[in-house]
Amino acid sequence: PAAARKAKVLLVVDEPHADWAKCFRGKKVLGDYDIKVEQAEFSELNLVAHADGTYAVDMQVLRNGTKVVRSFRPDFVLIRQHAFGMAENEDFRHLIIGMQYAGLPSINSLESIYNFCDKPWVFAQLVAIYKTLGGEKFPLIEQTYYPNHKEMLTLPTFPVVVKIGHAHSGMGKVKVENHYDFQDIASVVALTQTYATAEPFIDSKYDIRVQKIGNNYKAYMRTSISGNWKTNTGSAMLEQIAMSDRYKLWVDTCSEMFGGLDICAVKAVHGKDGKDYIFEVMDCSMPLIGEHQVEDRQLITELVISKMNQLLSRTPALSPQRPLTTQQPQSGTLKDADSSKTPPQRPPPQGGPGQPQGMQPPGKVLPPRRLPPGPSLPPSSSSSSSSFSSAPQRPGGPTTHGDAPSSSSSLAEAQPPLAAPPQKPQPHPQLNKSQSLTNAFSFSESSFFRSSANEDEAKAETIRSLRKSFASLFSD
Ligand SMILES: Nc1ncnc2c1ncn2[C@@H]1O[C@H](COP(=O)(O)OP(=O)(O)O)[C@@H](O)[C@H]1O
Ligand SMILES: [Mg+2]
Repeated sequence: PAAARKAKVLLVVDEPHADWAKCFRGKKVLGDYDIKVEQAEFSELNLVAHADGTYAVDMQVLRNGTKVVRSFRPDFVLIRQHAFGMAENEDFRHLIIGMQYAGLPSINSLESIYNFCDKPWVFAQLVAIYKTLGGEKFPLIEQTYYPNHKEMLTLPTFPVVVKIGHAHSGMGKVKVENHYDFQDIASVVALTQTYATAEPFIDSKYDIRVQKIGNNYKAYMRTSISGNWKTNTGSAMLEQIAMSDRYKLWVDTCSEMFGGLDICAVKAVHGKDGKDYIFEVMDCSMPLIGEHQVEDRQLITELVISKMNQLLSRTPALSPQRPLTTQQPQSGTLKDADSSKTPPQRPPPQGGPGQPQGMQPPGKVLPPRRLPPGPSLPPSSSSSSSSFSSAPQRPGGPTTHGDAPSSSSSLAEAQPPLAAPPQKPQPHPQLNKSQSLTNAFSFSESSFFRSSANEDEAKAETIRSLRKSFASLFSD
């Protein structure tokens, strides 16, 4: 127990195939503290946070058909998954809010992650950079933003790419050849209750990705093989290219947005006209690609350690066990190294010095607090973090993993839930330079149209709405 107290807990939100515990094995922070890695996907996590600075994270994993819940108190978070996507079961913003509420330090900052939950909101930052640097240095694609379908009447030139809502992996991106098709797409946007953007379709030679992890820079080009205009769909070829001052300026400037991004990447298409068109920035959820993924993971590891050293204090954390007047079963099961030793007393502020407060943009409403499901059961094991099992329950719905296939070398996407039969073997050999990548996404179920509970009801509603929108939009 004495040794266990000398550990800081790092929560890594990532897919299971990325073994972060391995990366942090043997590493120390604050001199002699071990780093205990807890890794889970967003869909397996829940948390409770109290205003007095106490909090607990619950992690549910299925083991042999039994749901195992572990409760622990992370000191730091590394987030490697999209916090939000409009595909089904991809909205984890309530967890980001909870982590911010708990004052958890993280990479990237929770503030920036929250800000990355709307692509046009991020693009607005690119627009600001474009205004500062100018189009020579920062060739941003010309984009138009529509809060809804109503202004989507026509455009001066075609073809364009319409991008609907906040989605990843090429989802919701449509190439539109003429203004009839544009109106068709506008009618689809009318059903989505979200925003859309339109930008010129660039006849491209290849995509460029300039990534920055801490102070490490790499640039890649990705060329479509299968001919799909989205190089992240179908087969593509990936090659590392030389970093230039120009690329460095792009990514350095972008890394300053939202108070600073520890990890980010700028994406551009390189047109057959020889020009670059910047169209996107990715944050810490960006998939690692290319032949240096092991090194990149190492760089992220070092970045996390240096941030932990900077932000964590040696003072043992306080007990999240009996916050306020809570009677929740899960808090009684906490036996985390730090917490179990500390008497329940009034805590000093949590989460390191100077954690930003109140970052939620106005107008966002906190979701009602969800208490972890399951009965109160005694701990079934006496590991340093307690675990308890409950009767098998329905696993969370299928989770589509955002941008994973987008530029990633990974061949599979849309991983099934833990209990489901595997679609494709996930682990894959290390990518070689110029290796062919194949990825395709499939719209699962009702895709980005967030459907109501009853499917027939939803279908009927869709048809009704279609009729209405066609009537109102396209009849003179
Ligand atoms: N305006 C455009 N012109 C040509 N190709 C584009 C354009 N915008 C995107 N693409 C291609 O489509 C891919 C996916 O677009 P992107 O906006 O990154 O969607 P997502 O993030 O959902 O994958 C890009 O990697 C690029 O190859
Ligand atoms: Mg993208």
